[in-house]
Amino acid sequence: MSFVSIEKITKVFPGGVRALDELDLEIKDGEFFALLGPSGCGKTTLLRTLGGLESSTSGTISFEGKDVTFLTPGARNIAMVFQDYALYPHMNVLENISYPLKVRKFSKEEINKRVTQASEALSIQMLLDRKPGQISGGQQQRVAVARAMACTPSLYLFDEPLSNLDARLRLEARTFLKQLQRELGVTTILVTHDQSEALALADRMAVMDKGRIKQVGSPAEFFHKPANIFVASFIGSTPMNLLDGLVNDGKVVIGSMTFDIPEHASTARTGDQVVFGVRPEYVSLVSGPGSGIASGVVKVTENLGTHYLVTADCNGILVRGTAPDGSEPAMGDTVHLKPEPGRSLLYNKTSEDLY
Ligand SMILES: Nc1ncnc2c1ncn2[C@@H]1O[C@H](COP(=O)(O)OP(=O)(O)OP(=O)(O)O)[C@@H](O)[C@H]1O
Ligand SMILES: [Mg+2]
Repeated sequence: MSFVSIEKITKVFPGGVRALDELDLEIKDGEFFALLGPSGCGKTTLLRTLGGLESSTSGTISFEGKDVTFLTPGARNIAMVFQDYALYPHMNVLENISYPLKVRKFSKEEINKRVTQASEALSIQMLLDRKPGQISGGQQQRVAVARAMACTPSLYLFDEPLSNLDARLRLEARTFLKQLQRELGVTTILVTHDQSEALALADRMAVMDKGRIKQVGSPAEFFHKPANIFVASFIGSTPMNLLDGLVNDGKVVIGSMTFDIPEHASTARTGDQVVFGVRPEYVSLVSGPGSGIASGVVKVTENLGTHYLVTADCNGILVRGTAPDGSEPAMGDTVHLKPEPGRSLLYNKTSEDLY
């Protein structure tokens, strides 16, 4: 059953910016849902609208089947952590974390237990008697996360809650977030700029662009089957090869290269303008040229730790592949790169959608 149901939500700010554009989204009960997208695509606006801090221009939001579109934030039973983590400046850290629990009339023992658990998990137990102005930005952020996690609302809204933390703390904090979310089973929506965070934490995720959802699915679906060219170019630690081509006689022709039409693209027809996509991770070095192989001259090799990313100029078209550590080609070498057939994707250039 879906816990959050968003129907045709539009938000036009005074001045005319259309931050949300007839957006539809369903989030299931107990789900850890991640929201990704380029800066300015409307992620914060969507979260603020869900939280009741922003009114929508049109559309409906329901929680558990109940229309909450016009409810105040206080009536929605949610805990939020926002980009600017709004702590109460006059309260110390302990009071900040316990405040929502006091408001909800928890017992003293329960408040103590929850504050201790959350502050230990986020390594802020030594800061409890300081005011927000006396701790660093990353520490303030952890206090804001602890304050939210100490509550048991029916929905968590997190807007980049870990963005100011260093790599190690960030990993620890996200493990804590995931564990506690699993224990409590509270539906959670997390906005993040960090794809690896989304892929690691989310049951399902969505990518937004210009106030609309471009794809919803599991992390694996995003990685292996991006639904359109926008998502294909957005998701992935190394950018996907996206090569303009033309379908001709059962093949995809890209400059002087020819590839088999990927199996999923059985509706592609001769004359279709297409974009052939394959992740560099699925393009490997082979010994010689041929059909289905991109031959070219190495422009760059980049060390990615366990392997090398190789960028080759194939008659004016750049193709990226990977070489195992120890066998990396040098700049200027001629290489032959072969995409794994089952891993290639074909997009229609006009609709920009996957075949
Ligand atoms: N109060 C406001 N008044 C007018 N325009 C606004 C307001 N708040 C946001 N916008 C605009 O709405 C659009 C969406 O903004 P939003 O903050 O939701 O983006 P975002 O996806 O959270 O970006 P980021 O990743 O940079 O945080 C942007 O074009 C932004 O400039
Ligand atoms: Mg934002």
